[in-house]
Formats: sequence, C-alpha cells, structure tokens
Amino acid sequence: MIETAATDLSVTAPRDRESAGLRVAPSLPDDRPAVRDLILNSGIFGAADADCVDDMFLQSLRQPSDDNYRFLSCWEERLPQSPRMIGFACCGREALTKGAWDLFWICVHRAARGKGAGSLLLSEAQRLAIEDGARLMVIYTSSTDIYAPARRLYESQRFTRVAVVPDYYADGDDLFIYSKRLKQRSN
Ligand SMILES: CC(C)(COP(=O)(O)OP(=O)(O)OC[C@H]1O[C@@H](n2cnc3c(N)ncnc32)[C@H](O)[C@@H]1OP(=O)(O)O)[C@@H](O)C(=O)NCCC(=O)NCCS
Repeated sequence: MIETAATDLSVTAPRDRESAGLRVAPSLPDDRPAVRDLILNSGIFGAADADCVDDMFLQSLRQPSDDNYRFLSCWEERLPQSPRMIGFACCGREALTKGAWDLFWICVHRAARGKGAGSLLLSEAQRLAIEDGARLMVIYTSSTDIYAPARRLYESQRFTRVAVVPDYYADGDDLFIYSKRLKQRSN
C-alpha cells in the first residue's frame, strides 16, 4: 500500500549501540578500497555498481563541499582485533531541491548484518541531513526479495513507501520510493 510521507521526525538509534562496538565516522580516503570490496562482496551489487560508487567516492574527495556526496564508514571495534570497516553509506543533497536529501547507497558486510550497523549508518545519515537543514530524506530501492532486508531497515526507521513505479528496474522489478520528513512542514 502506498502512503503519504511519514511525519514521524524521530531518528532511531539502534538497540545496544554501545555493546555492539560499532562506530560510524565520515569516510577517509583510505576507506576507498573497503567501500569497493563491500559492494563487490555484497551478494547484490556488481562491478558496474562498484565503479559507480568508486566514482562518487572520488568525487567526494576531490571537491569536498556541502553539495557533494557524503560517505560514512561503519567500524566494528572489538579488542584484541584491530577495527575493521564493515559498512558504508553515501548520502547527500538532491540537486535542484530545497532541502531534500537522498540516501544513495548503504551496504553492510554479509558477515556483519543483523547487528545494527545498517541502522547506525542510516541514523547518522539522517543526523547529517538534519544538521544541513534538510526537510526530508528519500531512498530508492527495488521491490525484489533480495532487497527485503533493506526495506525492513527503512521501515524500522520510519521511512514510508510513498511511490511505486512498476517494472522500473526490469519487468517484475518495481521501484519503491521511501521518504521521511526530518523537519515539520513550514505551512
Ligand atoms: C540493508 C542492510 C544495509 C541492512 O544492514 P544491517 O546491518 O543488517 O541492518 P541492521 O542490523 O541495522 O537491521 C536493521 C533493521 O532491519 C531489519 N533487518 C535487517 N536485515 C534483516 C534480515 N536479514 N532479516 C530480518 N530483518 C532484517 C531488522 O528489522 C532491523 O530492525 P531492528 O533494528 O529493529 O532489529 C544490509 O542487509 C545490506 O547491506 N544489504 C545489501 C545491500 C542493500 O540491499 N543495500 C540497500 C540497497 S537499496
């Protein structure tokens, strides 16, 4: 069922954020190979997706600005092992809008899923957007089964499915558009 955009303004933090030993921080240049590996080993995305993310990552490094892509890296910090990067997200302003942000990518290592990393990345992306004065965040995803965990993640953080474009990605593979207001409407 298609609904109107969510008006719940909460940014949900994952349960057990501390005990999970997870930390999210802006990505650094050294994170580039890990971002690519996460995409290639996602079980969902392929080489073309990895190239696309890599281009966006390079662009974000070359011209850091409020208008550019913002990458976040999620680290698992468990002693005595050294921290390892287990996920990333890419978000940013949607060009030609006043205060709409997109979540362009989110991916967590297969062995690290279900522990809150996706939730933490998504809540930090929303925090960045709110800091930037964003009114809402929008996410595009697919209707197919392999994206069910992503759809559950978005719904668990109170994103609402506001539109469906049938057969967008391929016949039988619809585009689902999720949206969440981050700020009350001004009128
Ligand atoms: C979507 C993705 C980023 C979620 O990351 P994650 O670290 O597993 O997510 P979390 O552990 O924070 O779980 C978040 C919520 O999603 C739901 N969820 C996530 N994976 C789930 C699964 N495999 N089964 C059931 N529920 C799941 C849970 O309801 C959870 O809610 P909770 O915190 O109330 O328990 C991860 O599955 C992934 O990288 N998938 C492949 C890439 C992808 O699909 N990206 C999105 C493209 S649009």
